[in-house]
Amino acid sequence: MKLIAPSLLSADFLNLGKDIEMINRSEADWFHCDVMDGRFVPNISFGIPVVHAISQLAEKPLDVHLMIVEPEKYFEAFVKAGADIITFHYEASTHIHRAVQQLKALGVKAGVVLNPHTPVSVLEDILCDLDLVLLMSVNPGFGGQKFIERTFEKIRRLRAMINEQGLDTMIEVDGGVNTENAAALFEAGANILVAGNAVFKSEDPEYTIHLLKS
Ligand code: DX5
Ligand code: ZN
Repeated sequence: MKLIAPSLLSADFLNLGKDIEMINRSEADWFHCDVMDGRFVPNISFGIPVVHAISQLAEKPLDVHLMIVEPEKYFEAFVKAGADIITFHYEASTHIHRAVQQLKALGVKAGVVLNPHTPVSVLEDILCDLDLVLLMSVNPGFGGQKFIERTFEKIRRLRAMINEQGLDTMIEVDGGVNTENAAALFEAGANILVAGNAVFKSEDPEYTIHLLKS
């Protein structure tokens, strides 16, 4: 499975509707929505009302990446706003198992995100409860950063853990993904690639999505 999730963080906020329609038309699979609170990460992006607005026009699943402290407090609000997949940070939650059950009860796909410094081994006893794991390949907070090469090794190790446990957990990779490294990331075992700058700063975003996928 090879999915592409363009990150709206790099979209044109003055013409968000146009960019959403482009993604609807394109071969992209999910809309990646980066929610930042200025506490978990040193940046503030957008929140519940904007995600709700996006859901009105988006014809593909909304993948909401919460870069916020106490994410559990906001799960229900984001589901009501139209989220189909919710991922929250391992580093921001003390009771991951409980949080994952909360998401399941709300009827959405649940995923845990790991910062670049967090080893995949911390997920060993929760992996069987997750629909996906999101590996950060940059430090969260900003689009347009350089891909951290070490991520390849993490993808391979996580893929081995998933296979060992006989699971079908998906691996998503976020940060610095572009047309140069996409094929190798899929090859290493990633299933979903998030791309912000690579898509929206390119001359032909729709064609770039095609290239990322092929
Ligand atoms: C970073 C966000 C990413 C970001 C990716 O904190 O989680 O989703 O938008 O942007 P690029 O693809 O430009 O690195
Ligand atoms: Zn993200």
